[in-house]
Amino acid sequence: MIYRTHKNTELSLEDVGLDVTLCGWVNKRRDHGGLIFIDLRDISGIIQLVFNPEIDGASHIKAHSLRNEWVIKVSGRVSRRPKGSENPHLKTGEIEVIVLGLEILNEAKTPPFEIAEYSEVKEELRLKYRYLDLRRDFMQKNIILKSEVYQRIRDFLSKNGFFEIETPHLIKSTPEGARDFLVPSRLSLGSFYALPQSPQLFKQILMVAGFEKYFQIARCFRDEDLRADRQPEFTQLDLEASFISEEDIYNVIEGLIKDIFENVLKKPIKTPFPRLKYRDAMLEYGSDKPDTRFELKIKDLSFLSSSDFKIFKEKEAIRGINVAGYNLSRKEIDELIEFAKGFGASGLCWFKVEGDSLSSPIAKFFKEDELKRVGEVFQAKDSSFILIVADKERVVCDTLAALRLKFGKPEPGFNFLWIIEPPLFEKDKDGNLKPSHHPFTLPFEADFPLFSSNCEKIRARAYDLVLNGCEIGGGSLRIHKPDIQRMAFKSLGIKEEAEKEFSFLLEALSYGAPPHGGIALGLDRLLMLMVNAGSIRDVIAFPKTQAGVCPLTDAPFKVSKEQLKELGIRI
Ligand code: AMO
Repeated sequence: MIYRTHKNTELSLEDVGLDVTLCGWVNKRRDHGGLIFIDLRDISGIIQLVFNPEIDGASHIKAHSLRNEWVIKVSGRVSRRPKGSENPHLKTGEIEVIVLGLEILNEAKTPPFEIAEYSEVKEELRLKYRYLDLRRDFMQKNIILKSEVYQRIRDFLSKNGFFEIETPHLIKSTPEGARDFLVPSRLSLGSFYALPQSPQLFKQILMVAGFEKYFQIARCFRDEDLRADRQPEFTQLDLEASFISEEDIYNVIEGLIKDIFENVLKKPIKTPFPRLKYRDAMLEYGSDKPDTRFELKIKDLSFLSSSDFKIFKEKEAIRGINVAGYNLSRKEIDELIEFAKGFGASGLCWFKVEGDSLSSPIAKFFKEDELKRVGEVFQAKDSSFILIVADKERVVCDTLAALRLKFGKPEPGFNFLWIIEPPLFEKDKDGNLKPSHHPFTLPFEADFPLFSSNCEKIRARAYDLVLNGCEIGGGSLRIHKPDIQRMAFKSLGIKEEAEKEFSFLLEALSYGAPPHGGIALGLDRLLMLMVNAGSIRDVIAFPKTQAGVCPLTDAPFKVSKEQLKELGIRI
C-alpha cells in the first residue's frame, strides 16, 4: 500500500481531475455554511481541502471534529478553484482537493502557540516545544536551507579534490581559547576526555598523513559565555590543505561562497572579496570584524596631542568619527558619554559644525588652525557632528567601533571581507602573551627576529573572513617544522607543559610534515546571516538557551550516585 500519492505542492492546474491521496497536518480549519475548508500542511507546503456534505457526507461529519495540528490522510479529486477564490499567496492557490475520504491518523493537544501564523513567542517556550516551533514556516525554511548549503559544500569540495574525513569527539584538549567540556573516563578512573573545540590538531595530522586536501562538517564544543552568535555546540566547515599559500585558501572559499549564494540563495556575489590588513581595520573601523555595509570611517587626530587641551595630552590614541546629519541634543550627548564609558572610555568630546565653524564647550582650548585641521580631516560640512575619544588604544578602538555601529546605516547586501596579517600574539588581561588564533599559526618569516625582541609585533599568516560585521571564519598557514613550533611555544612561556601536552604533534611534525594551512567557517553564523535571523538559534534545530540549557530535554541533568561512583567522581 502506498501512503500518499503526492506531496501537497507537487499538484498544480495540470492535475485537475486527478484522484490523489495526501497526508499532513491541519494548518487551519474554516467552516463556511455547508462547506468545511482545511489548509493541509506537509513539508512541501499547503493545499486547500474541501469537505462538501453533498459529495461525501461521512467525511464532512468527521471534518467537524478536526482541530489544528491533527494529522490526517485524505483521498480526493484535484479541482480548479471557483473563479475569484484563488489565493495568489499559495503555490497551490489555483486548485483545491474535493475530499472523498478522510482518515484521522492522530489527534493533537492544543499547541501552546500559534503555528499557522507568525507570532512572537518567548524563546524558552519555543525551545521547550521545539518540535512545534520547527513546524513553523520560517523555521522549516531555515533548516531546509541549511541542509541545501551542506549538500552544496560537499558537492563543491569533493569536486575540488577534498576528502571528507571524520575526526574523533572524545579527544585530548585542542586549544582554541575557550574552556573544554570534559567527559570522565570509566576505564581510566580519574582521567577525562575533552570534547573538541575544533578538529585543529587532527586535520594537521591528516596533512602529515599525506591526504593533502581534507574537509569536514564538524561539530565543535566550547564552554564559553553565550551570545546571540555563539552556541556551546556549533558546526564548522573545517578544511585543510597541503602545499598551498593564502591565495589557495581565498580562492577555494570565495568559489564555495559564490556557489552557495548563487545556487541556494539565488543572490549574486562579487569575488574576489576585498582584503584589509588587521592594522588598518583597527585604525579605520576600530574592529577586526568591521561592518563595511556603511562607510563612517574612524579618523586619526593624534596631532591634537600637542594642543592646549590637557585631556588630549599623553594619550595612546586620539581618534573620532563624523556622524554627519545627527544634530544631537544635550541629553543625547550625555547618553552617548555614558555609552562610551561602558567601553572603558573616560569621556567623549564632540564638535558640532555650524556653517563653516566648529562649536563645542572645548573649542576654546584649540587654536584656529587646529580646529581647521579637524574640519578638514572629517571633510566637515554644515550639520556634521564629530565625536572624539582620547584614551588607551584599545579603549579608543572599542568605543569608536561601537559608536560606528550605533550610527551606521547599513545598506542591504552581503559584504564579505578578508582581514589579513593579524598579530601572532596578543596580551591577556594580566599582560601575558597568548596566541591570537591558536599556537600552531605560522608567523611571517620576515618577523622571525622579533621573537627575541618584540613578540607583539610578529604578524601571523592568518586570515579571518568577515560578513556584515560578523566573523564567519578564520584560519592560517601552520607551522610545519618542530623547531619553529617549539620557538612559538617558548614565546608563550609554556615550553615544557606545551611540549608535553602536544608532544604527539611535535612528534608528528618531525616525520616529514608538508607545509599546510586551512580555515574553518562557522556554518551556523553564515546561515544566520544568509536568512537574516536575529539569533544563531534560529538556524539550529536543537540549540541551547543563553544559559546553556536545552528546555526540551532538560539537559544538563543531575546524574545518579551510582553513575558517579562508577566514574570515581564525588560531588
Ligand atoms: P575559530 O576559533 O576562529 O577557528 O573558529 C572558526 C569559526 O567558527 C565560528 N565560531 C562559533 N560559532 C558559533 N558559536 C561559537 N561558540 C563559535 N566559536 C567559533 C566563527 C569562527 O570564525 N581551528 C580554527 C580554524 C583554523 O585555524 O583552521 C578555528 O576553530 O564563525
